[in-house]
Amino acid sequence: MAAVGRHTIVSGLDIGTSKVTCLVGEINQENHIEITGKGTSPSQGVKKGIVVDIGETVKSIQQAVREAERSSGFKIHSVFVNVTGEHIASINSHGIITLANEAKEITEEDMRRSIEAAKVVSLPADREVIHVIPRGFAVDGQNGIKNPVGMLGMKLEANTHIVTGTVTFLHNLTKCVELAGLEIEENGMVLQPLASSLSVLNDAEKELGIILLDIGGGTTDLAIFRNKHIYHTSVLPVGGYHITNDLAVAFKLSPTEAERIKIEFGHADPSQILEDEAIEVTTLSGVKETISRKAIAEKISPRIEEIFALVKTEMDKAAREFSLAGLILTGGTSLLPGISTVAKQILKLPIRVGYPLPLNGSVNDAIHNPQYSTGVGLLVYAGRNLNSQKVYRKRESFLARMFRNLFKDFF
Ligand SMILES: Nc1ncnc2c1ncn2[C@@H]1O[C@H](COP(=O)(O)OP(=O)(O)OP(=O)(O)O)[C@@H](O)[C@H]1O
Ligand SMILES: [Mg+2]
Repeated sequence: MAAVGRHTIVSGLDIGTSKVTCLVGEINQENHIEITGKGTSPSQGVKKGIVVDIGETVKSIQQAVREAERSSGFKIHSVFVNVTGEHIASINSHGIITLANEAKEITEEDMRRSIEAAKVVSLPADREVIHVIPRGFAVDGQNGIKNPVGMLGMKLEANTHIVTGTVTFLHNLTKCVELAGLEIEENGMVLQPLASSLSVLNDAEKELGIILLDIGGGTTDLAIFRNKHIYHTSVLPVGGYHITNDLAVAFKLSPTEAERIKIEFGHADPSQILEDEAIEVTTLSGVKETISRKAIAEKISPRIEEIFALVKTEMDKAAREFSLAGLILTGGTSLLPGISTVAKQILKLPIRVGYPLPLNGSVNDAIHNPQYSTGVGLLVYAGRNLNSQKVYRKRESFLARMFRNLFKDFF
């Protein structure tokens, strides 16, 4: 984060399984973000959202960052970075504190202590906390309070969503960023579905109860929101890469040719292909062959059905106590024709494809694609934290500042 004149420059680094994207945003005093730089490079060292080759990942990061620096005209020193992978775990926890024998006015310090109390969950030594997200408070048993500061009460209860990751995977991610010559901003690791949600969901959707799915190359990241708060998160180790691989195996194609066939002719629902076409492909042995478009869709659909069956299991586990109003699909695989129909059949929910919200800026058109939801979300996350710093700068105590840095802007 750097201050330039009256603007602050922030950078988001989305280290995905198929591509690394670096975006640069300029945030003005009204907290409007302009995206002024974009760099993207193929990701070679990441599998299912996890770094498997540090050297290759560093190269991909450097390439994306250099391009973003060229297009924005700014040197990037520090970034907000996404974190994903099957190692991510989340639990809902709550902490209760007694304020006094008689009702007293609740302070920020009380709020901090109640969240701290919720954080006291026994974590295995190999896990680290990534986020402690407040989901609401209860004062003297009265639930549904968004911000209890200033209210009278004797007992304060914080409901939180705690996201953890495996220490070694988080370390490898940090190492890649550092070896690429960058720093991660303080508390700058952001859970991928949380980042994506910031760029594609609107407040009404979060209020009603919504499920966000970011189906990328190697992972399907899921987040459930209700009453504006994050309710459940999880990461499934399956995505578009697996569809490409299925096509490569079935039709004996190179990964590059299978990817081309998928993007140009792929469809999630064979029953929607009314007029079949013969598609020319080059097999691994270099021979040209034709396959029918319907046959391609028939190989894709079982994988898509598998993904949504896994999502349904997660959804049924997590959202038992309330019903969901819809599902927002984002990530590159959400561009596969027919995917919304299949999702609707399996999950029985209204579906829309989520594009990153329009922001101003010179590269805005180039990022109007579900593949950039996470990258744009990282800038929104950066902007929100910047905003809370501005609001609190003059009057906050050292403890309050520590609290803000720990829990950031999740209210
Ligand atoms: N038009 C399209 N039709 C089908 N699939 C597509 C299309 N465009 C992109 N994809 C797929 O989207 C995937 C990449 O999406 P995205 O860029 O969101 O992934 P990522 O962020 O690199 O990976 P992850 O988040 O899983 O680590 C690839 O598997 C790609 O084949
Ligand atoms: Mg992604």
